[in-house]
Amino acid sequence: MSLRFQAPKGTRDLLPPDTAIWAAVEAAARRVFARYGYGEIRTPIFEETELFARGVGESSDIVGKEMYSFTDRGGRSVTLRPENTASVCRAYLEHGMQSLPKPVRLFYVGPQFRYERPQKGRYRQFHQVGAELIGGKGAESDVEILLMLVAFLGELGFGDLKVLVNTVGDAESRSAYKEKLKTYLLPLKERLSEDSRRRLETNPLRILDSKSPEEQEIVAAAPRLADFLTDASRRHFAAVLSSMEAFGLSFVVEPRLVRGLDYYTNTVFEIVSEGLGAQNAICGGGAYEGLIEELGGAPTYGVGFAIGEDRLLEVLPAHSPARAAAQAIRPVLVAWAGGQLPEDASPSSPTFDLAEELRRQGIAAVDAGGRTGKALYAYADQLASPCLAFVGEEELAAGTVRLRDTATREEQTLERQAAIARLRPAPTEPR
Ligand code: HAM
Repeated sequence: MSLRFQAPKGTRDLLPPDTAIWAAVEAAARRVFARYGYGEIRTPIFEETELFARGVGESSDIVGKEMYSFTDRGGRSVTLRPENTASVCRAYLEHGMQSLPKPVRLFYVGPQFRYERPQKGRYRQFHQVGAELIGGKGAESDVEILLMLVAFLGELGFGDLKVLVNTVGDAESRSAYKEKLKTYLLPLKERLSEDSRRRLETNPLRILDSKSPEEQEIVAAAPRLADFLTDASRRHFAAVLSSMEAFGLSFVVEPRLVRGLDYYTNTVFEIVSEGLGAQNAICGGGAYEGLIEELGGAPTYGVGFAIGEDRLLEVLPAHSPARAAAQAIRPVLVAWAGGQLPEDASPSSPTFDLAEELRRQGIAAVDAGGRTGKALYAYADQLASPCLAFVGEEELAAGTVRLRDTATREEQTLERQAAIARLRPAPTEPR
């Protein structure tokens, strides 16, 4: 049978039991971000197109060729959000947050949309977990954001991720450097790709992170941004690095890291994971000193990150506590152990009764509804049940329940209340 409808290209349905892991990852984010004093913000899924054109920048690939923009019935040009930083800064200004005690700490979880060529780890609707620290002091803000990011990834069980950091300097450093870079690249124009030739005019810095081997060779001999930093930018970066060292964050300075959005100034960073292939960045972020001003506010220091949740889930360690947390909410499957079902006036069966008793005690449970043998175990697989609880004629007479661990296949028969106590999940430690 060929399907009449499928999810649109580059999008996908997330289904159980995977969605339980997504929820556990998001719960970990909420827990860690709350510990750092961040509150959740939920902005609209679409915004006025102009917000992204100004915020993310006309020269970025996102604005140039990846936005889902359309004209609504009222004739307005709107765009499905390709990222959330511009929206958060718009909301910051719209709600007068600039007059709140500073800095303002916000986080978000949700879908973003980019019209990119779909491939492994790259979707047209993808999901980000991100945070923004607005109105703080430079280097100190950068380090707080990095510490929180690493704390979150640590909570998920990642042990060995390296943060790649660089500085793209302040506006003054960059305009001096851009000129030098252009002068160096112009005579080599013929060897550059069409994209890079266009960037030569719009944002030559982006050529630095080209993936083509020929261009990498050209870039290797190019003047270095580090040699054009103003004293203020140099001091800022040195302060960030020494503070990262002091807090034991492991990082590598990557001089070619420039990031694809136009709003960045000074510190930029990425986290990559080897397990992902070409689309290997799980997280990107950095500081933006001009964005709020670009959107009509006063000059304000901002810094933040966004983690690609789809990619994060792809490389989530096998031992991640998020997997265990997801496992803990999988239902016990309550099955009939055989024999004559008791004649009863009640419409519910003994397995239905036990399943509801478990649920009232806070234990996830599902009635197997008379399934036995292969059908029963297939159902347990589908629900990813950690355990089967059998009641039958014998058990009912003796007031017991037989428990079977689905992984180890070990069985034990316990008195009914003792069995319920055994199934109760361990209370989670407050952190
Ligand atoms: P970004 O680097 O464009 O930064 O995206 C952040 C992360 O989102 C990437 O590292 C990647 O994991 C994920 N991502 C991006 N595009 C896709 C896609 N098509 N499919 C799957 N995952 C994707 C930002 O969005 C900035 N707003 C980050 C930021 C916050 N900077 C300051 N504050």
